[in-house]
Amino acid sequence: MDIGGGTTEVAVISLGGIVVSHSLRVAGDELDEDIVNYIKREMNLAIGDTTAEQIKIGLGCAMPLMTEASMEIRGRDLSTGLPKNITITSTQIEEAMKESISKIVDIVKMTLEKTPPELAADIMEKGIVLAGGGALIKNLDKLISKETGMPVYVADEPLDCVVRGAGKTLEDIERLGRVLVNARNNRR
Ligand SMILES: Nc1ncnc2c1ncn2[C@@H]1O[C@H](COP(=O)(O)OP(=O)(O)OP(=O)(O)O)[C@@H](O)[C@H]1O
Ligand SMILES: [Mg+2]
Repeated sequence: MDIGGGTTEVAVISLGGIVVSHSLRVAGDELDEDIVNYIKREMNLAIGDTTAEQIKIGLGCAMPLMTEASMEIRGRDLSTGLPKNITITSTQIEEAMKESISKIVDIVKMTLEKTPPELAADIMEKGIVLAGGGALIKNLDKLISKETGMPVYVADEPLDCVVRGAGKTLEDIERLGRVLVNARNNRR
């Protein structure tokens, strides 16, 4: 599963090829937008996309944190038009992102429903791997695991693993190159 900025992609890969896959135009950027809208609606405060992304990285979680976290943010009060500081909590940000997060979880379920039983049994054993920046949302691995009953792992350095995998493929093109051929066939 790769949760990027613009898209979330889920695929079951076996013998170097994609067996089932789903893609959704809900990922990191949409979560930033959810945070902007929530803070406008609930706190009457306008913030920019960069602030929203910082809030997501600092407080964003898919399930409650062991100890609630909070941060002070600055925006523009929509009634006075003046700058204003407020404190926001991880619980509020979890609420802000809830709907999009559930859409993300749903495509994992949809993909598993279409997975042949033998492969589903393998996933049950080996688990689902999360990559892309969205994999770093706190407790998203836990939530996906709870909702699917599968073990879920976050890849090492999830922001870089796609490019490092491409690099490894190029370094060992004779052995790994066939995944590129399979990927091309799958797109046809
Ligand atoms: N620690 C973090 N916690 C939550 N989200 C994060 C974190 N670090 C980065 N992100 C988010 O991850 C997203 C970028 O991830 P990534 O680099 O995998 O996307 P991309 O490959 O550029 O996008 P796409 O795959 O959609 O084309 C951004 O939305 C960014 O805000
Ligand atoms: Mg990407």
